[in-house]
Amino acid sequence: MLKSPPDSPSLASLLKALGDPTRLRILGLLGGHELSVGELCRSLGLSQSRVSNHLRVIREYALLTERHVGPSTFLYFDAAGLEAGGGFLGELWATLAPEVRRQREHGDDLARLRGVLEERRQNTRNFFDSVAGEWNAIGVDFATGQARQRVAANFVDPQLTVADLGCGTGYVAQAFLGLCSRVICVDSSTGMLEEARKRLDETPVGTRIEYRPGELDSLPLSDGEVDGAVCAMVLHHLESPDACLAEMFRIIRPGGTAVLLELSPHRQEWMHEALGDRHLGLDPQLVAQSLESAGFVEVALEIAADRYQPGQAERAEREEGLPLYIIRGRVPR
Ligand SMILES: C[S@@+](CC[C@H](N)C(=O)[O-])C[C@H]1O[C@@H](n2cnc3c(N)ncnc32)[C@H](O)[C@@H]1O
Repeated sequence: MLKSPPDSPSLASLLKALGDPTRLRILGLLGGHELSVGELCRSLGLSQSRVSNHLRVIREYALLTERHVGPSTFLYFDAAGLEAGGGFLGELWATLAPEVRRQREHGDDLARLRGVLEERRQNTRNFFDSVAGEWNAIGVDFATGQARQRVAANFVDPQLTVADLGCGTGYVAQAFLGLCSRVICVDSSTGMLEEARKRLDETPVGTRIEYRPGELDSLPLSDGEVDGAVCAMVLHHLESPDACLAEMFRIIRPGGTAVLLELSPHRQEWMHEALGDRHLGLDPQLVAQSLESAGFVEVALEIAADRYQPGQAERAEREEGLPLYIIRGRVPR
């Protein structure tokens, strides 16, 4: 027996939202990934106008979470949250979802989605390859702060091997030099890795450096390979931090440390286009929760004294700067 349904006008709009094969395909896809409208259309193999008509009906029951960043709209259906909540809709979706997944069209949609996600990765790599040569000038305001040194200070031990994930042009890795034994720099952009190599190879101080191209949701490191890992100013480029944090948990040995450096939520829309930011900052409490969900313990949040002062920001926010935070967590022994 399903829990009590909503009152009849809402029930009718809910059933209308669910009562169409294309709308079920849309919910089936958005239940697993946050997609832009364009990515959703390509995954469904349907035109934007057809998809927009269906989205209008789905929106009448407010089934979707929508984020607007610059000109982009990102859509998500929190199927797991609904099912865990256990209300009428949660139970209804838990009953429908296996049927939706059994449909042949859903299999075809997932196959197209895989291509769309690979295209998204390739776009990110192309974007960072294209800005790699000028990245040091773009990030110059932030480069002068102390936040990265505070991140690196967690790893002062000549025995340690540390991974710098999404290393960019190597600002954080540079702060490691002389503090630990080995730094493994990982980035999906070979252009960025090349710039990191230029910066770091100039400063030989006994720390061995390796460069590995790779994605944050499938890191090119083996289980427990490192004593610690850092991910600085990268999570806001990803659809969600979860896959990256799970990978960090896998590659750090028991007792080792993860350190994240991130921007708090802000309103600098231009950073979406100019810097490739998918999220305008991330809520520190949510990131701390994600770190715990990935298995880390002793999770601690510190608001950094530095503030990021991007040159193009609106005057008021430029003067104040954007708040940064550092989160640490440990893999249980
Ligand atoms: C804003 S830069 C930060 C660079 C550096 N960590 C720092 O603090 O200066 C973001 C970096 O993350 C990399 N990146 C973005 N998405 C990635 C992904 N999915 N896998 C691996 N690297 C990624 C980009 O290529 C870029 O070098």
